[in-house]
Amino acid sequence: MCGIIGYTGPKKADTVILGGLHALEYRGYDSAGIAFFEKGGALRSVKSAGKIACLENKLASEENVNTRCGIGHTRWATHGAPTDVNSHPHGNERLMLVHNGIIENSRELKLELEKQGYVFKSDTDTEAAALLIDACTRDGDRLAGILKAIKKIRGSYAFGILFADTPGEIWAARQDSPLIVGLGENENLIASDVTAILAYTRRYLALENGDVAKITRDTVTVYGADGAEVKREPQTALWDLAAAMRGGHAHFMHKEIYEEPDAVKKTLFPRIADGIPDFTPEGLSPDRIKAVRSVRIVACGTAYHAGLTGAAVLERVAGVRASAEIASEFRYRNPVIEADELVILISQSGETADTIAALRLAKAAGAFTLGIVNTVGSTVARESDAVLYTYAGPEIAVASTKAYTVQTALMTLFGVWTGLIRNTVSEDVARKYVSDLTVALPAEIKKIIAREKELKSIAADIAEKDDMFFIGRLFDATLAAEASLKLKEISYIHSEAYAAGELKHGTISLIEPGTPVVALSSEAGIREKMVGNMKEVVARGANLFVFAAGKEGTTELREMSKIAFVCPDCPETVAPIALATAMQLLAYQVSLARGCDVDQPRNLAKSVTVE
Ligand code: M6R
Repeated sequence: MCGIIGYTGPKKADTVILGGLHALEYRGYDSAGIAFFEKGGALRSVKSAGKIACLENKLASEENVNTRCGIGHTRWATHGAPTDVNSHPHGNERLMLVHNGIIENSRELKLELEKQGYVFKSDTDTEAAALLIDACTRDGDRLAGILKAIKKIRGSYAFGILFADTPGEIWAARQDSPLIVGLGENENLIASDVTAILAYTRRYLALENGDVAKITRDTVTVYGADGAEVKREPQTALWDLAAAMRGGHAHFMHKEIYEEPDAVKKTLFPRIADGIPDFTPEGLSPDRIKAVRSVRIVACGTAYHAGLTGAAVLERVAGVRASAEIASEFRYRNPVIEADELVILISQSGETADTIAALRLAKAAGAFTLGIVNTVGSTVARESDAVLYTYAGPEIAVASTKAYTVQTALMTLFGVWTGLIRNTVSEDVARKYVSDLTVALPAEIKKIIAREKELKSIAADIAEKDDMFFIGRLFDATLAAEASLKLKEISYIHSEAYAAGELKHGTISLIEPGTPVVALSSEAGIREKMVGNMKEVVARGANLFVFAAGKEGTTELREMSKIAFVCPDCPETVAPIALATAMQLLAYQVSLARGCDVDQPRNLAKSVTVE
């Protein structure tokens, strides 16, 4: 989604802003722009459709860009095509504004502003906000004017604003779209996320809904919705710049997959005491968990798949009724939420609009909410009753990989802790899970990564096809869904994920000679049934690729498949998590083989901050 960066200080603002925009590229965008004060003090903007390189080319031929204050934006088109004119910033000779979010009443505002004589140049919703703020601040009182304008705006926004007559000053405002103020030495920044400021500082303030802030190189003043000054506590990002860079890998996705073994350990170790799980220091009391009648997990995309795994662990291991739901459906279907439910929100970014809405709905219904979040200080983290951070570090590639691995590992540990509290799991079983999760899982992921060449050869076969299947049962059905999502998003190959036993109820009609089928088999207990389902597709000419864990019954799997990828020593408790790494690397290799943009696939954004 869109990205914002702003800078005021002694450095060349255009250089800082372009660096920040590059750091925000991972969010997905289709055009970019920058506004800055010229040497003489006039306010200027340069905008371009396409990649940031196009904006850089334009800027290179501009004169007078030597500036110490400016704002920049990467746009992911919602209202109006990705063109130069529709790119941000918007405004006029008095004011320039960049915006993340959606102005829902932009049509209404536009009609009102046109009556006042304003002329619109773009098709965007943002221009209405820019010109409205101009209209409200014409008398010179910036704070009162911005507050007056945002009262008239319906929708979500993070704004960065420059006024022509106050060079060096940036104004910011937010509602339902994240915005932070980076706190530097003799310089300050604004940004839509922390990755954009890491080159300069790790200290920042997270603005809250309704906040308006005035930022100069040495002051940051935050005002609440009533105009009174408010204090926002400075936070320190846990990530450093190196963590956000590619570190020698060809793509962020590749680097992030390789980081999984460490990310698992970092996420799980703080929750283990004397060899068994313990979440009490994080605000979760055993009494509360005992009193919970059911658990509902709400999330989107890959995080939803992690939720499905979490729900399955909670039911199987802890004997508690648990389900997972897609946030965008949940929020609009008038769900019955009971006060003795535990509602878990899983989100890498913590800023996914639908997940935030689901969280608010659950809170309003009186349920206890638990955020499982990778980004410190994000909205889901701040607004949940309790939060468990995943320590995966920054995830830059649009395709979520290490975030999924740590989410599923953490949910498994949480399920085991819940089982201990509810007496469905003995201490010995809990210890075995802990050892599988913290020792065997990282080791098995490393082994899978070391076998990337094998995955490349399977990828070569799949890359030539337009359709394929992923099948599995139980945990592997969820893994199949995640594997299919990963492949679709970065290779643009259509695939179906199916519970293997369900195929013959219709979809098997799509299998024809040569159709690639990836069959997942991580559980020995259900292997015989899986073998039956594999035979069904082989009989119809499918190219079968088997991914399995364990030793029992794997000879037959090898015989049946074109290529078998077996992890003989991987414990069943963690096999679906480990095999996810193989699925991620497979998708990565297919994407490479097809020459796709691995890290920034078409039409997708990293953080989906609009519904
Ligand atoms: O930041 P979140 O975890 O809330 O994001 C949820 C989804 O948008 C995300 O997982 C998406 O499906 C990824 N592109 C999948 O790789």
